[in-house]
Amino acid sequence: MYSQKVIDHFMNPRNKGKLKDYDAVGKVGNPVCGDVMYIYIKVKDNRIEDIGWETMGCAAAIATSSMITELAKGKTLEEAEKITKKDIADALDGLPPIKMHCSNLAADGLKKAIENYKNGVKK
Ligand code: FES
Repeated sequence: MYSQKVIDHFMNPRNKGKLKDYDAVGKVGNPVCGDVMYIYIKVKDNRIEDIGWETMGCAAAIATSSMITELAKGKTLEEAEKITKKDIADALDGLPPIKMHCSNLAADGLKKAIENYKNGVKK
């Protein structure tokens, strides 16, 4: 049901964990399944210098958290906020249709973190 890439990111998640020194965090939850994700960003010269995450969720939520950090790291804030759930799913070689909503969490979590950063909200 899951692609090899999803399984790889689930088994070996990249950039996992809360950043010690972050500038903003985006918290999002899925009201349907109750899963919750936090995306932490460290910004330097308008670029995402570092990014980490904590996710209490399903395998797809873990894999998409991991993948969005790889897609966003080093990007400008404007580039990073354009990452869509489809970009994340494509980078994972697809998600099962019933799991597409899980990739919303990662895309929305990053957008929320960037929005909080721009508004000067750290927590
Ligand atoms: Fe909740 Fe995947 S089932 S995010």
